[in-house]
Amino acid sequence: MSPATHMTRPQTHGILVLDYGSQYTLLIARRLREIGVYSEVIDGRCDRPPSGFNVQGIILSGGPDSVYEEGSRELPKWVMEFKVPILGICYGMQLLVECSGGQVRAATKREYGRSSMHTLKASGPASCLFPLTPVKQTVWMSHGDDIAKIPDDYEVAGETDDHVVAAIVHKTYPIAALQYHPEVAHSEQGANLLKTFATELCQLPLSWDGKARVDALCRHIQDVVGSGHVLVACSGGVDSTVTAALLLKALGPEQVTAVFCDTGLLRKNEVEWVSEKLKVLGLRHLEVLRSSSLFFTKLQGISEPEEKRKIIGGLFIEEFEAYAKRHPEFTHLGQGTLYPDVIESAGHGAGAKVIKSHHNVGGLPDKLALKLVEPFRWLFKDEVRTIGLELGLPEELIHRHPFPGPGLAVRIIGEVTRERVALLQEADHVFISALKEHDLYHIPWQAFAVLLPIKSVGVMGDNRTYQQTIALRAVTSSDGMTAGVAELPLSFLTRVSDMIIRRVNGINRVVYDITTKPPATIEWE
Ligand code: XMP
Repeated sequence: MSPATHMTRPQTHGILVLDYGSQYTLLIARRLREIGVYSEVIDGRCDRPPSGFNVQGIILSGGPDSVYEEGSRELPKWVMEFKVPILGICYGMQLLVECSGGQVRAATKREYGRSSMHTLKASGPASCLFPLTPVKQTVWMSHGDDIAKIPDDYEVAGETDDHVVAAIVHKTYPIAALQYHPEVAHSEQGANLLKTFATELCQLPLSWDGKARVDALCRHIQDVVGSGHVLVACSGGVDSTVTAALLLKALGPEQVTAVFCDTGLLRKNEVEWVSEKLKVLGLRHLEVLRSSSLFFTKLQGISEPEEKRKIIGGLFIEEFEAYAKRHPEFTHLGQGTLYPDVIESAGHGAGAKVIKSHHNVGGLPDKLALKLVEPFRWLFKDEVRTIGLELGLPEELIHRHPFPGPGLAVRIIGEVTRERVALLQEADHVFISALKEHDLYHIPWQAFAVLLPIKSVGVMGDNRTYQQTIALRAVTSSDGMTAGVAELPLSFLTRVSDMIIRRVNGINRVVYDITTKPPATIEWE
């Protein structure tokens, strides 16, 4: 059986975002969806639009290349022939300028951050994107090249105080291009501009809302599963729990069985907590697979992060497959895979490298004995949370910090053993409980402890100690693609450090990770 059926998309029309490798590309699609417009992202060099998707507008993303350099990503021919409104952003603007006879040059000074743009009167169809009030607005720039000469068919619609061309519009067609990034929250009028582009230029209704999403996804599930029986891999995380809830809504309890794999790599008391919470869903069948011995045996002696991830991803699927084999009534495997996982794992775009193989995507064997049903394959995490609330799941579950598929294995640097997992579980439990007690749990988007492979000298009472180190990580983020450091009070952090050292035997030092993403990733492996 082929896993191809999961590719059916939840909406068949919308805006297509062509990716040229910008760190903000996914943010463009998210902003559009927040506004109520369905959008998808594809590699900016693809030779045709995706089949089955009615493209009603195109946005060209930014990117790290320079259009005048050999080997830089080019605008595919079909884009200009397609006759739908186009919005070029940063590198996307430079591509439009270059292909229309204008000139792009290396800017004398690389601009990064806030800039002030004033709007100029323009008359082309896309000039509606640049209303004259407010005449000045803050925009977010991130570019090394700028426009030396605009093409003859275009007019300037916005300029910075330093006379850098910030926005242009085509004189005849609904095409606009921006040097700045409207998708970044610091661009004051950015969301308004994207909304006007979608509604006025592309004539799209704002139809991608909570109810529409649930209805579309239920239809999608019913189409894919038919009268089959789904095995849902539940982890207690938001994505898999909402997947299970949605499958139940779409198919009813007779066609859905939740299976929870106890890998031994979960948070403290997780199995009990999850089993309890899943009852809320009205599930008739919940199976807990006791697989920890298998996971610990296979992970013995393994320290390399990618190897750990591959082993865990593979074992997960094997465990579920073995269970399914014992229960031949199952036809499908339900998973909570998200859109960013799919894009990051696919590594599409020459500049977008595979950073980590996410276990729910990279670990899949080519041929599954079960068909996949992944209703969130096209969705962002905040959309999944909204769906969860729409389905009536408790806030406590929906607003839980994300937890990675490979579990604590990627938070234990070096070999994963039962003893090291127990140590980390305890330290993590102290940290998370303290966040909850001090009403700080919702400050970070994600918080956890990491066990480091180093020992250091300490002193407890009158004795010298030589023990292990815990790193605390707490980040702010909206989707995990980029992250800041959560500014937890130092007094709180030192209290947590005291508690961990007092309660967790074997730890004598606690450090706080102050690295943003990029350059670091959120997880340490
Ligand atoms: P990174 O470490 O890539 O993490 O900055 C971004 C977000 O993804 C989570 N994460 C995973 N989630 N399977 C998952 O389901 C995985 O293999 C995986 N790896 C990382 C991570 O916890 C963070 O929220």
